[in-house]
Amino acid sequence: MQAKKPLSSIERAATHFKNVPFFSQLSDKELEHVKSLAMEKNYPKNAVVLTEGEMGDSLYIIESGRVKVFIGDEDGREIILKILGPGDFFGEMSLVDKQPRSASVSSLDPSSFHILSHNAFEKCVEQTPRIATMVMNVLAQRVREADKKIGTLALMDVYGRVASTLLELAVFSNGKLMVGERLSQQDLANMVGASREMVNRILKDLADRGFIAVESKSITIINRDLPPSL
Ligand code: CMP
Repeated sequence: MQAKKPLSSIERAATHFKNVPFFSQLSDKELEHVKSLAMEKNYPKNAVVLTEGEMGDSLYIIESGRVKVFIGDEDGREIILKILGPGDFFGEMSLVDKQPRSASVSSLDPSSFHILSHNAFEKCVEQTPRIATMVMNVLAQRVREADKKIGTLALMDVYGRVASTLLELAVFSNGKLMVGERLSQQDLANMVGASREMVNRILKDLADRGFIAVESKSITIINRDLPPSL
């Protein structure tokens, strides 16, 4: 059998890019073009990547790691709007409307991003107009999710908000329905707009009633008919 020829560094970089869903829909030629315009940057865990209210017009595409998108107040309280992972992007709002950043973004893991400046993004769109449609699709999806979140925050009590957030984050893994994100109880509290103590009480109640099993940071959903209130 013939030995496989090792990949050149350019081929390796292209394969790397192809693993990012945002780029995977592009042809090799389109990919080459975007790649030549993007800058790569790494951040350690818990680093501030974007700050709400600051000016900026770069788009960040996540190669690896997870980030939280949040808004906070001067007392350090925060509400997490969304957790994003590999293949997702952020920073598109200021890129599009040239307004200050709508939220802050910080890394939950050591993370690596491909960064496109406004000019680079415009060049990408000129060359590959499909990129604009991809961004529009994601924007529409984010508005839908934000509508849902407003409804949940306004119409449900904390118990219901915890239950609905657990279901939203749940994915099947090894035949079990698990909360996909490794989240601390404080993160979960920041997602539902409640205190950590309250979330701890609700998780314990759901576990005592046999709806979920909690083990360290992992939560398994045993019965998906989670009760919306006590
Ligand atoms: P921008 O306003 O440039 O900087 C903050 C980024 O957070 C924003 O672009 C979006 O990419 C992202 N963001 C803001 N609100 C949400 C949301 N509700 N869901 C997902 N991402 C968001």
